[in-house]
Amino acid sequence: MKYSNTDFNNKTILITGGAGFIGSNLAFYFQENFPYSNVVVFDCFRTEDVFSNGNLKSFGHYKNLIGFSGDVICGNINSKNDLEILNNYKFDYIFHQAAISDTRIYDQELVMKTNVSSFFDLLEIAKKDDAVMVYASSAAVYGGLPSPQTEGIENPENPYGYSKYIMDRIAYNYAIKNPNMIIIGLRFFNVYGPREYFKAKTSSMIVQLGHQILDGKVPRLFKGSDKILRDFVYIEDVVQANIKACNPTTYKHRVYNIGTGIPRSFQEIADLLQQSLGTNLGTEYFRNPYEGYQIHTQANIGGAQEHLGFEPIISLEVGIKTYIPEIKRLHGEDYS
Ligand SMILES: NC(=O)c1ccc[n+]([C@@H]2O[C@H](COP(=O)([O-])OP(=O)(O)OC[C@H]3O[C@@H](n4cnc5c(N)ncnc54)[C@H](O)[C@@H]3O)[C@@H](O)[C@H]2O)c1
Repeated sequence: MKYSNTDFNNKTILITGGAGFIGSNLAFYFQENFPYSNVVVFDCFRTEDVFSNGNLKSFGHYKNLIGFSGDVICGNINSKNDLEILNNYKFDYIFHQAAISDTRIYDQELVMKTNVSSFFDLLEIAKKDDAVMVYASSAAVYGGLPSPQTEGIENPENPYGYSKYIMDRIAYNYAIKNPNMIIIGLRFFNVYGPREYFKAKTSSMIVQLGHQILDGKVPRLFKGSDKILRDFVYIEDVVQANIKACNPTTYKHRVYNIGTGIPRSFQEIADLLQQSLGTNLGTEYFRNPYEGYQIHTQANIGGAQEHLGFEPIISLEVGIKTYIPEIKRLHGEDYS
């Protein structure tokens, strides 16, 4: 589906983090809809290195890109040397997705270096090439602020949220100095859908609970999960937002919330999954061990609707139903 009138054929497009969840979906979007686009994926891929919480240091996986026919560059955005290779191209669009996406990494230096310092280098490339810059921010900038979360009032409560908050500040300052550049930040809420599986324990609860149910296990939720609500947004709507961000109608620079605007509970997810999978296993509850856990998120998407023409299309019911065949296909697949 084409989400805008922009013709990306014969355009050169950089996707950092293109071996990850959102980036690889963008790569395939261009390949499928604009066969003459030149898409370049830049990603460090995964190593076997893990953080102290046991999660991998980066989640990029070649399996997300099987069938992708553009250029794939293995490089680290923290390395100016690795970024050099990008000078061989002249980009029209940059979708900057690469990041430490795990919200529970507390190595502040590494989170800030990866998510923030590299952003300067990518903005410089965008400036040099006169490229549109669309970058990934996050709902984590809001911390525990009450719903609906609205651009302009932020309160990050972990290094990840802070890094995205600072990216938004950098983009703002950069745009003031470079008023002709298009720099759009997208604050994704809880994204789910195909190609997230290799994020392992940091993938959405939709795929994780789906696999618990397919294992024949009772889905396990935090106590009070009927009252823990999040704004879950399907990957196709996130792709839509990225495409529409390339053509902002009003402001050349701004940051927008991207969600559905409708909060849904974890209990509803478990119930919808069981309905779709035809099981009736009930639910098991355990104590939430996390402090600073977001209990209620709901994106105020008025800005994205008005200035990008963004309109989420996929409800949680439709998203889960659409996703089920992929959840089944991946069941039992090794995610290392
Ligand atoms: N998925 C969500 O729900 C969500 C919500 C809010 C924001 N975001 C943001 O959207 C972007 C994409 O998220 P995702 O869910 O696809 O995560 P992801 O982890 O699947 O993708 C990030 C990609 O960046 C790569 N990467 C990490 N460090 C790198 C480095 N130093 N150099 C080069 N590549 C590196 C990883 O290998 C991975 O492929 C991220 O910036 C994330 O913070 C995602």
